[in-house]
Amino acid sequence: MPRGSYTVEEFVHDITEKLNQGMDVEKLLDQGSTLLERLIGNPDCIPPEYKAPSGGGKHPNRGSYLLHRSPELLVSTVVWGPGDHVGPHDHHTWGMIGVLENKLHEIRFRRLDDGSRPDFSRLEKDRQAVSKQGEVSLLVPDVDEIHQIDNPDHRPTVEIHVYGRDLATLNRCRFDPETGAVTTFASSARYDNE
Ligand SMILES: [Fe+2]
Repeated sequence: MPRGSYTVEEFVHDITEKLNQGMDVEKLLDQGSTLLERLIGNPDCIPPEYKAPSGGGKHPNRGSYLLHRSPELLVSTVVWGPGDHVGPHDHHTWGMIGVLENKLHEIRFRRLDDGSRPDFSRLEKDRQAVSKQGEVSLLVPDVDEIHQIDNPDHRPTVEIHVYGRDLATLNRCRFDPETGAVTTFASSARYDNE
């Protein structure tokens, strides 16, 4: 296949095949990230209108466009507008973030407490990471999956997000590293293209 023509449909088909093989998370992320790199190597893998913030709703400076949804696989396009910020949060599933346009600026955190208290945590900043166009950032459950996201640039960052569960039905955690407070939240079930 010529480079740059891999489609979302083909990606979903290939990832689903790996899920059906019962692959462990480490192997899935390893092989899946190669497929995601191939997908974001195609600048036309999503329609142009999915590459901009929605301009409306609760987060007008953000965009969230559904590409595929099943109980074991969620694929979406996420756009962070200029200056956008999302505080530290976790995912409770494996994830892959492929950068289609611009850069992804992340701060990754390590959890120091044992997670036994639902309302309290101790987080330590682990590292600052910048993923460039064409690169994939991985979320590994319980190991390395708490991050903060910022877009310090003057243009949107466009990403393809891939998760092992439908985030809309998942109670996840938001963290305040200063106070230790933990609050739960769930992603909106509605996408900007629905
Ligand atoms: Fe996230």
